[in-house]
Amino acid sequence: MIDRATIDRILDTADIVDVIGDFVTLKKRGVNYLACCPFHNEKTPSFSVSGTKGIYKCFGCGKAGNVVNFVMEHEHMTYVEALKYLGKKYGIEVKEKELTAEEQQAAGQRESLMIVSAYAQEQFTNTLWEHPDGKNIGLSYFRERGFSDKTIKKFQLGYCLDSRNAFSNKALNDGYKKEYLVATGLSMERNNELYDRFFGRVMFPIHSVSGRVIAFGARTLKQDKSVAKYLNSPESEIYIKSNGLYGIYFAKQAITRTQKCYLVEGYTDVISMHQAGIENVVASSGTSLTTEQVRLIKRFTPNVTVLYDGDAAGIKASIRGIDMLLEEGLNVKVALFPDGDDPDSFARKHSTSELETFLSGAEQDFISFKTKLLSEEAKNDPIKRAALISEVVKSVSVIPDTIVRTVYVKECSRLLDIEEDILLTEVAKLRRKKMYDSGTKSVTSPPEEQLSTAETAAVANAITAPLPAFVSNVFSEACEKELVYFLLKYGDRPLFANEDKQTVTAAEYIINELRNDELELKNLHYRKIFDEYNTVLHVPAEERIKHFINHPDHDIMELTINALSENHRLSIKRFIDSEEPENTKLQRDIPNAILVYKSSITKQAYIEVSEQVLKAQQNNDTAQLQVLMERLRTLQGVRSIFANELQRLTT
Ligand code: CTP
Ligand code: MN
Repeated sequence: MIDRATIDRILDTADIVDVIGDFVTLKKRGVNYLACCPFHNEKTPSFSVSGTKGIYKCFGCGKAGNVVNFVMEHEHMTYVEALKYLGKKYGIEVKEKELTAEEQQAAGQRESLMIVSAYAQEQFTNTLWEHPDGKNIGLSYFRERGFSDKTIKKFQLGYCLDSRNAFSNKALNDGYKKEYLVATGLSMERNNELYDRFFGRVMFPIHSVSGRVIAFGARTLKQDKSVAKYLNSPESEIYIKSNGLYGIYFAKQAITRTQKCYLVEGYTDVISMHQAGIENVVASSGTSLTTEQVRLIKRFTPNVTVLYDGDAAGIKASIRGIDMLLEEGLNVKVALFPDGDDPDSFARKHSTSELETFLSGAEQDFISFKTKLLSEEAKNDPIKRAALISEVVKSVSVIPDTIVRTVYVKECSRLLDIEEDILLTEVAKLRRKKMYDSGTKSVTSPPEEQLSTAETAAVANAITAPLPAFVSNVFSEACEKELVYFLLKYGDRPLFANEDKQTVTAAEYIINELRNDELELKNLHYRKIFDEYNTVLHVPAEERIKHFINHPDHDIMELTINALSENHRLSIKRFIDSEEPENTKLQRDIPNAILVYKSSITKQAYIEVSEQVLKAQQNNDTAQLQVLMERLRTLQGVRSIFANELQRLTT
């Protein structure tokens, strides 16, 4: 933990132009600076830095933030790492808050496990290159598999001698503690003696994102089917199998550069593809994907291509896991290798350019792929067909981006030969259910009044008009302010009841609305209030507000106090019935505020895109022009929906 005062000092001192200038060549344009965006590939600069506001924003890809966000994003650092980096640059001593004895011990324990793991990797690697058995058995195995010496060294592969305890004894001799050898699973203890877990196996060290060895995969060289092919380190304080991805450390730069991540199954697939020159590849290590793994990929790119070996059974088994990728908003493609090949064997048989050509040719969109695959099976069987439709609808409904969903509905309607409307309704049903299911439950007082299910649904419907993904970067300060006002002043009010008669508070409602369209407030203070509000949702309402009233950030404190002292303001002029109960007003005005907010950013997006159209016309950039015109049409559509809704709600 870094203390608040230090964070503030860093934020006050760090000059965003100076910091970004270390990584990107900035050109002055008016009051701002302009550059080609470091986060996506572009030829004409659309990355803008405002020194006075202390923010950056890319009008092409939408990345935006303050100086800390930039360092985090660009250098793939955590928040704390980024602050330390900035502290160092500006000579600010970063004092971490004193850890408690327990925290210190835990940190010490983790560090010790990492040190033992690094030591073990060195031992296994030395054995591979220097010990006669290592050379004859391990090294020759890797070479026979077609791994070059350079590859073997890069991935720090190794060999564990085929002996009961050669490794453990050496480690003890070198002063490593029994406790840590056992905790990392490198050694096993029996009758007060240590034994080597991985004896007689070739070793694949598993690295953390920052490149430290945290575990091992160990392959047997025996053909014997009764022996497990791979033994992996057990989970420990430094290794949670389902959180990591094999190869992420070696892949992260290539993933960022190419904006694509290949997902394969095994260690050898990753290594062979690297050797073939394709470095943006990670492995799930044979298990089905977890949310943590998906989020890890998302730190670097939203584009994932899953590579399968071409056996149909395997594909069907893993298809379910892919919905999770969609749910996290990733763009998912799949590519099938020819029957009998996995990425490893294919990469070995072909040249780099053949592999690249194959991958770009074989890659297809996941939902279309799934739809085609299942409809093959269901051809003339109506029951199977119904199941197929609900399968496809399920996959489509988890996609957070409205426009992407709409496109898929069209595509699937064509592939399945089903009316678009039917699919749309099914998708909408599932989404609405999800929206209410996901509302964080908080401590609330009993509702004063509740809308009927039908009324709730009607209100909820009215404001879920689709918002295209590219809109979400636009800034609408006044509207943001209004949302924050409602959040702070009325956040704990029970607003609606959902289908299960559970209360949805104003805060839950507002937070869900923004989440559903993946909108993030752009004003950094407001956004902070939103983020922090989320973290204090579970505490009683009064405490929650105290958190903001006593906030160490003076601006946030002031905003809160102003919000609480203001009277119920109205964003839209309308006839007001002063006798109306307050909750009725809120039930109308909060959805309104969200609608106005969404409508306002859509309008601004429309203006921005129009300007970009003019530019594209001047530059004769027809490809870009096409994209932009499509966006304009989309925005026009969305705007008219909002206009209708606003009219309906205000008359
Ligand atoms: N795996 C595992 N434990 C096993 C089998 C497999 O952890 N008993 C994981 C490993 O990460 C492995 C991946 O699942 O890399 C894929 O398994 P498989 O295809 O059987 O192995 P390959 O990586 O193809 O290894 P090889 O080519 O050496 O057979
Ligand atoms: Mn294999």
